[in-house]
Amino acid sequence: MGFPLQQNSHDDSNPWRADFPIFSDAEKAVAFLDSAASAQKPTAVIAAMDGIMETHYANIHRGLYSFSQQSTAVYEAARHKVAQFIGAKTDNEIVFTRNTTEAINLVAASWGAAYLSKGDEVLITQMEHHANIVPWHMIAEKTGATLRVAPILDDGTLDMGAFESLISAKTKIVAFTHISNATGVINDAAELVRMIKAHSADIKVLIDGSQSIVHKAVDVETLGADFFVFTGHKLYGPSGIGVLWAREDTLNAMPPYQGGGDMIDTVSFTKGITYKNAPARFEAGTPAIIEAIGLGAAIDYLGTLGMNNIESHEMALYRYMRDEVNAIEGLTFYGDVADKAPVLSFTASWAHVSDIATILDQCGVSVRSGHHCAMPLMECLGIDGTIRASIGLYNTKADIDQFIAALHKAYKFLG
Ligand code: ALA
Repeated sequence: MGFPLQQNSHDDSNPWRADFPIFSDAEKAVAFLDSAASAQKPTAVIAAMDGIMETHYANIHRGLYSFSQQSTAVYEAARHKVAQFIGAKTDNEIVFTRNTTEAINLVAASWGAAYLSKGDEVLITQMEHHANIVPWHMIAEKTGATLRVAPILDDGTLDMGAFESLISAKTKIVAFTHISNATGVINDAAELVRMIKAHSADIKVLIDGSQSIVHKAVDVETLGADFFVFTGHKLYGPSGIGVLWAREDTLNAMPPYQGGGDMIDTVSFTKGITYKNAPARFEAGTPAIIEAIGLGAAIDYLGTLGMNNIESHEMALYRYMRDEVNAIEGLTFYGDVADKAPVLSFTASWAHVSDIATILDQCGVSVRSGHHCAMPLMECLGIDGTIRASIGLYNTKADIDQFIAALHKAYKFLG
């Protein structure tokens, strides 16, 4: 798409911005550059969530009365929207979770407990978010499996050669991020999956799509992995809802993660307990009904914009930001490669990142600073954190200008 980048006009330069009520107060003029942590919500999502509560909210899968039937239908319609959005073959491949973290914990705890044992290896990378490290560490400790870590190169990208050399007959599962939340570096996920499966089709592959799903059109069949996980709150949906995608045979060969209502076929003290197939098997208890409906609305909204249009807009802004930031002295960039997500990650020789972030906030610019829940990556880069400016679909050239002006101010004050 690519509408023009206009000077100092929040509304004119991006027609999508008006869809987000949080930006309606021009007085506040916040340049929100922390969408990688969590995105703002469009009216369509807020209205869908309000709508269900105002019209026909009830618990799902349980009531024969109309409110329950209607709520069930909208909840299951949300599952269908997710399935279509990522190219799943059937709705049964979509398990609703609380977030990415819970989706990975589910796979590690359920698949890991069933299929990992002493001597097996789990391969991850140096650039993972803690959510794709700690659950594997925990299940490795429990099962006696070993956690192996593929290193990165000096430019922040994955060392593909070293990655491949770490795949062996002992490797049972490989889990890697599609896009680094800390640097915006993109992993060639389809190529990595191809590399892993060439060693053995039996090695499972999990892709953390938390950051990719918001910037790119994703097709799980093309990626070829066994698990793809993401969260709703970064995708302009509400918090409290996430997604685990896997094929039905994979899911149905995994034991339940949590036990409770709605995930069983029968419960009897004399005859035993039997479980439903996926996705119900993994959705014990009353799920996040309203949040799932909100996620469905977010997906509808993104469908009207088009993921390719969103990507073009965000990358045009990113390139502008990357060019403008060059005028500021003493910055070191991380993951500063040509093909990346609209995420700028840097340190300054003249001040600590948290002092800079505090000044940016005083200038109405919201960025994240610190280790970004990726401490092993920071350790490997020899730093304790970066400033991360991440772009969402509602950002404008004016946001970037405000950010650059604030950085100049920070340099004047702290440099
Ligand atoms: N995972 C989120 C981030 O990268 C919270 O900031």
